[in-house]
Amino acid sequence: MPVVYVEQIGEWEGKEVTLRGWVYNRRSSGKLQFLLLRDGTGVIQCVAFKGNFPAEEFALLDGLGQESSLEVQGTVRRDSRSPGGFEVDIARFRVFQAAENYPITPKEHGTAFLMENRHLWLRSARQHAILKIRHEVIRACRDYFDDRGFTLVDTPIFTPNACEGTTTLFETRYFDQTAYLSQSGQLYNEATAAAFGKVYCFGPTFRAEKSKTRRHLMEFWMVEPEVAFATLEETMELAEGLICFILERVLSRRRAQLDVLERDIGALERIVPPFPRISYDEAVKLLQASGSAIEWGGDFGGGDETMLSERYDAPVMVHRYPGAVKAFYMQPDPERAEVALCVDMLAPEGYGEIIGGGARIHDSDLLLERLAEHGLPPEPFGWYLDLRKYGSVPHAGFGMGIERVVAWICRLTHLRETIAFPRTLYRIYP
Ligand code: 4AD
Ligand code: MG
Repeated sequence: MPVVYVEQIGEWEGKEVTLRGWVYNRRSSGKLQFLLLRDGTGVIQCVAFKGNFPAEEFALLDGLGQESSLEVQGTVRRDSRSPGGFEVDIARFRVFQAAENYPITPKEHGTAFLMENRHLWLRSARQHAILKIRHEVIRACRDYFDDRGFTLVDTPIFTPNACEGTTTLFETRYFDQTAYLSQSGQLYNEATAAAFGKVYCFGPTFRAEKSKTRRHLMEFWMVEPEVAFATLEETMELAEGLICFILERVLSRRRAQLDVLERDIGALERIVPPFPRISYDEAVKLLQASGSAIEWGGDFGGGDETMLSERYDAPVMVHRYPGAVKAFYMQPDPERAEVALCVDMLAPEGYGEIIGGGARIHDSDLLLERLAEHGLPPEPFGWYLDLRKYGSVPHAGFGMGIERVVAWICRLTHLRETIAFPRTLYRIYP
């Protein structure tokens, strides 16, 4: 008898199949048992008639708690009253494990309790929908770059140097040396871009973010393209294209999950290129006019980003921030040395930064100067400086945080639901 998944059940109408999964919910009406079976791909109602089973077997079914695991065999029947349009008449079943007192019940639970039970919470419809969308976003990123001639080159996680400032480094022992967990694959991407032209890396990155916010995780996944000879403008186009591609994929393939989340789909459908592009100077003026205390030269706070991103239907790209508030590797604008050729993309609906990137310094002397200004020792950057000695070219790229994008697309209030096992300031369990 074929073992099938709920998502393909429509292909088996009138046939006998085997399904395996977990009890999502169950109710009985004396002679009938209605069992909602969840198998990871969907939920289907399975029905058992008392008359078809020996009394003790029927009683076993009647006693099964939520999340008990079992296999059922039976005939697939079309039924418009059933959630997925099909039902299974149970002819036989086999219990793998009878669960009791599953802690997550249909009643409301507090976030702390749910986070403590994250390993089980993942089975809930909402969490399942979010992680299916996350997978779609990740797949779209890979397809976008793969289809455009980029080579995926993985970058290391143990690193000797800081990429995004020394205040958020996770330090660890590396035998008799000190190493840091990677904050970004960018510096290594710059080396591989000189070998392959167009590259991307896609992996976990780590930041010891000591402030507790809804927008920061200690461990998050970033996709980072890097392109030799690219300009800031080309980088903005690449970023805009990526976001449009992701949205198109999620809207066409994950509508059911967006519906589970009750996402306003119109807000996503209205997003079309070109996205607004404004300079940091213009952004500061807009913020001041809206009552922000920001002065030219300062970095945007979370509130400023929210305010800016609420102004537009589409993500907004803010370019040319003052070099002083950005990382050491940012290429200064040749027309105006105090600003960097960089860009942040802020997602709408108040979500704030989802992408950061720009052009990198390709001159060796300037790079040495900047390392010194940022208090970074040149020795661990020897290899990085080599890239400026052997065929240095202008180049640019960006990093997009997967969790930030998923939070926005799913319209979640906190990043902790965008990843299976979030690492937050106060929690490393489970
Ligand atoms: O703006 P960031 O710090 O830029 C870089 O790391 C560059 N080296 C990337 C590059 O040019 N290759 O981080 C990039 C993105 C942010 O826009 C945000 O989406 C995400 O990474 N991000 C975080 N996501 C979750 N938790 C955190 N603590 C994050 N920090 C950054
Ligand atoms: Mg940034």
